[in-house]
Amino acid sequence: MKDIKNLVAQMTLEEKASLCSGLDFWHLKGIERLGIPSIMVTDGPHGLRKQVQGSDHIGLLDSVPATCFPTASALAATWNRQLVFQVGEALGDECRAEEVAVILGPGANIKRSPLCGRNFEYFSEDPYLSGEMAKSHIIGVQSKGIGTSIKHFTVNNQEYRRMVIDAVVDERALREIYLAGFEIAVKESQPWTVMCAYNKVNSTYCAENRYLMTDILKEEWGHEGLVVTDWGAMNDRVAGLEAGVELEMPGSKNGNDAKIVAAVQSGQLDETVLDQAVERILGLIFKAEEALSQDYTYNQDAHHALARSVAGEGAVLLKNSGDIMPLTENSKVALVGRFAKEPRYQGAGSSLINPTRLDNLYDEIVKLVGAENLSYAPGYDAAGDEADEALIAAAVESAKAADVVVICAGLTDSYEVEGLDREHMNLPPGHDALIEAVAAAHSNVVVVLSNGSPVAMSWADGVSAILEGYLGGQAGAGALADILYGKVNPSGKLAETFPHRLEDNPSHHYFPAGPSTVEYRESIFVGYRYYDSVQQDVLFPFGHGLSYTTFEYSDLQVSQLKIDDKDTLSITLTVKNTGSVAGKETVQLYVRDVEATVFRPDKELKGFEKVALQPGEETQVVIELGPRAFAYYDTEASDWQVEAGTFDILVGASAQDIRLQASVEVTSSRPVDAGANGHTTGIYHNFPKGKAVSRQDFEGLLGRSVPANEGAKKGEYTINTPIADMGESFIGRQLNAYMNKQMTKMIGDQEGTPTAMLMQAIASEMPLRGILMMDGGAISREMLDSVVALANGHLIKGVGGLLKAIREK
Ligand code: BGC
Repeated sequence: MKDIKNLVAQMTLEEKASLCSGLDFWHLKGIERLGIPSIMVTDGPHGLRKQVQGSDHIGLLDSVPATCFPTASALAATWNRQLVFQVGEALGDECRAEEVAVILGPGANIKRSPLCGRNFEYFSEDPYLSGEMAKSHIIGVQSKGIGTSIKHFTVNNQEYRRMVIDAVVDERALREIYLAGFEIAVKESQPWTVMCAYNKVNSTYCAENRYLMTDILKEEWGHEGLVVTDWGAMNDRVAGLEAGVELEMPGSKNGNDAKIVAAVQSGQLDETVLDQAVERILGLIFKAEEALSQDYTYNQDAHHALARSVAGEGAVLLKNSGDIMPLTENSKVALVGRFAKEPRYQGAGSSLINPTRLDNLYDEIVKLVGAENLSYAPGYDAAGDEADEALIAAAVESAKAADVVVICAGLTDSYEVEGLDREHMNLPPGHDALIEAVAAAHSNVVVVLSNGSPVAMSWADGVSAILEGYLGGQAGAGALADILYGKVNPSGKLAETFPHRLEDNPSHHYFPAGPSTVEYRESIFVGYRYYDSVQQDVLFPFGHGLSYTTFEYSDLQVSQLKIDDKDTLSITLTVKNTGSVAGKETVQLYVRDVEATVFRPDKELKGFEKVALQPGEETQVVIELGPRAFAYYDTEASDWQVEAGTFDILVGASAQDIRLQASVEVTSSRPVDAGANGHTTGIYHNFPKGKAVSRQDFEGLLGRSVPANEGAKKGEYTINTPIADMGESFIGRQLNAYMNKQMTKMIGDQEGTPTAMLMQAIASEMPLRGILMMDGGAISREMLDSVVALANGHLIKGVGGLLKAIREK
């Protein structure tokens, strides 16, 4: 083990500052004279995106082939910690083989709205499930001596204006919903790095938010690793370092290293702050060096097989009327929908993987049962943007000749793109029209969906079965074939609610919001916490998923009927496979605070276990609940608090399929302060169904006024103003033209692709300081400060030269 403190003592101030930012897009700096190597980090999260020629953070340029595992939506739907751990191990293996020290992921943001453009990269609407999945992923990767970067910390729940938006969130929602998953992962798996999000939380950029990065992350949770910025998230470098953000990525040709040096020299920054940051960075480098010093290979076939089994557990059988599934091998099947041959299996943006192989459903069915009883019709064109009547008519014809129709539908590439939120929850019109037409002509229709986020299904009643395949990765198609023909018994369960309509979702009144703020007025009433509290009917509830067998729950026992707020409660029950095939069941445990003076949701997930059972077999499941399972976050005491009273222990197969129930009495050592925030916020005690929370009520909860939500005005522009918002000024217009020129150059012949869409979003939302990341050093921070002054109408020296430099770019 290297003597890190001693090494730091040998460094010059400049050397120390240099380590606080990247060498380039994907590498940290090294210091040769001291034997400090330069290590590589690479995107994730569900595969490796290692770029060797050219680099970008948007999925534009090539990366080396790597296994594309199912994306996080599917991983979470497995509810299988062991399987997610194995995916982590496989990712770690691939990193070692490619000499990558850290894989950027997992993504642990909460799915506040079905529309967030990156939901496919995130696990759940529930923080406990999200935290358990993130933890398993991290432990898996790190068991191979490779680091992770849990992201995007935090309250990054929309893509719209993600680089500048201010997420206004009350402390209870922050703690109980948006931080709780990160907390589990950090405390229980120590990710080597935490990636701070682009956005502001309660008016302070995450990249300079001491409360989040130091007070909570380092001091309360004990994070031992380092905080790295999301790519281009750094704002004020010195403030960032003081707040606890050690590493700025990508490279900093923006003069930030020199700013650190100057701040130490002037006494503005205490050198020990820098030393501590460097110690954490060196800790990471040397840990990685250990694993990367050996030659390594991995078995691509084995990883492909793992990807297939994970996709098989992450697919959720949502509906199966008349047990139409599994299909029999000799039934005549009409396979309809272009996705059957051109699978949709991952999302666009920084997580885009170049897969080692890619299976499709048509071929996989042929491999399983032969081509004799199988027909194929595309049903929609590649874009799917409108109904293609000729393709639909041909699909209906092929359906008529079959016993069963399997329709492959879902969201096309352009619907799920980093940087862009969806505008609605519908499928592309061409897909909806196909399903409706086929369902009108045939009574045995199975819909197989490929998408990373909930969709509306106006046709749900008219079809017999629905299999949600999520974005199943490169081997997902094989897994779908396995399930269709009963080779695999489905065991996935939803890690998110599927509402009937977008309007039923509690955040829709305030989502995505902007231009400058997004208010989280629904507070803790996110996902099923809202739907179940207000009794809003949903299409498919949180935790739902069918099987080809049946399970019986019995014999619920709690270890004690009375506990105090320090006790751990043990819950046991028996689950039996009462059907005729082997299967897996996820037992879910929810806790309900029956008598609360603070506002609480109807129930909250606090434990789960997945068990595998042969027909007729039974097993005992034991779940332990610690004090936190009963607690809420007390904003007055700044601590978790258990309120004395009765709590229900609800055990079931989904949030709305509770099979067993018991009650316990909990006593508390600390009396609840009846004057505290959570007690005086009336409307939250009886949360409104289908209506927006008023600004006044939200301010009551926040305990302060909300900041104005307005666009930038001339005279008030800053380095953080999106360039596209500076249109009132001449220089702003010039810069816009410059941005568009750069983007057009980068887009090249990819116009209309999801990557091009992401670039256009970047062009219209990127703050001025983003130029420093794109440009590679020719434009300095000082030049941009002059631009700001000029845009605000101030005359500056050297304006001619500045304009010339920009025009020539
Ligand atoms: C994304 C991160 C990603 C990084 C590097 C950013 O734009 O938000 O998730 O890891 O780029 O590609």
